[in-house]
Amino acid sequence: MTSVNRVITVCVPSESARDEIAPVPDGVRMLVWDGKSPAPDGIEDTDFVLAGYMGAPDQMLAALPRVKVVQLMSAGFDVWLPHVPEDVVLCNGRGIHGRATAELAVTGILAIVRQLPKFVGEQAAHRWTQENSEDLDEKKVLVLGAGDIGGYIARALEVFGATITYVARTARDGVHAIDELPDLLPDADILAIAVPLNAQTRGLIDAAALAELPDGAIVANVARGPIIDTDALVAETSSGRLRAFLDVTDPEPLPADHPLWDIANVVITPHVGGGTHGWQRRAYRLVREQIERFAAGEQLINVVARD
Ligand SMILES: NC(=O)c1ccc[n+]([C@@H]2O[C@H](COP(=O)([O-])OP(=O)(O)OC[C@H]3O[C@@H](n4cnc5c(N)ncnc54)[C@H](OP(=O)(O)O)[C@@H]3O)[C@@H](O)[C@H]2O)c1
Repeated sequence: MTSVNRVITVCVPSESARDEIAPVPDGVRMLVWDGKSPAPDGIEDTDFVLAGYMGAPDQMLAALPRVKVVQLMSAGFDVWLPHVPEDVVLCNGRGIHGRATAELAVTGILAIVRQLPKFVGEQAAHRWTQENSEDLDEKKVLVLGAGDIGGYIARALEVFGATITYVARTARDGVHAIDELPDLLPDADILAIAVPLNAQTRGLIDAAALAELPDGAIVANVARGPIIDTDALVAETSSGRLRAFLDVTDPEPLPADHPLWDIANVVITPHVGGGTHGWQRRAYRLVREQIERFAAGEQLINVVARD
């Protein structure tokens, strides 16, 4: 294990997190603070903080004047980015929740394609109602985001015969640039959304984009709610023209009286894509590796780009 010459102070949100992350390199001091309760002595010396599900970013960062690294446990960093100073490295939890989130996206898409909500209703009524449904064979899937989640969604759907088109920030072999999105939408049976929420993606799937999708297309969003214009989606799904699987909504939590709840073509889960039993194990493994890299003066992984 790497040893360091000076003491590095790492702040983690709970005693269980500290215990799960251990062992850490010699010379690393672990403090426990959840960002809400009274801070322990020495908190102002924190070099590396494991944040993400603790306190408000601005309040927490105000208590950590010497922090050099903010490590999140979420892949999404939209809430933190505006608060983290330019000279502080922000790292996200890419890889912790990706596969599980893609799994839920595929679950939702398949539920709609194979009419699961309808059959669950028939089961509740004790009715044996046989009818043919669609399948994924030859479905054209436009995956918005060619990263961790998008990659898993694509690979899983391909197994069942779907063909994949990727769109991402930068064009490369097999991936279209984002400015080609309008031309690609009319050919998409399924639009799977797996991009971060940022200035370019907020409201990207607006009324005009939804209108480009063919009749009966499925919009699956496991990324962030505000990427889609909710009112436009309500209009397109309540008319029956489009269908949707949403693990994320705008707003969240979705108010009890929101129209999305009652639209027959919409399947909703309450932002639980990454919420599986294994996520903490994966998170703490990543954090241990990051602390080791930081203590050894090595390049961190999952550094959020500042563009
Ligand atoms: N529902 C949940 O529980 C849950 C769980 C985890 C994550 N998420 C959300 O899912 C998002 C994606 O996660 P991930 O781990 O797949 O991220 P990732 O591996 O970093 O991949 C992000 C992809 O989005 C693309 N992208 C970024 N900005 C873009 C822009 N302005 N226009 C077009 N494409 C853009 C990137 O393009 P390049 O490849 O060209 O860079 C990349 O392909 C997260 O940011 C988070 O908000 C939700």
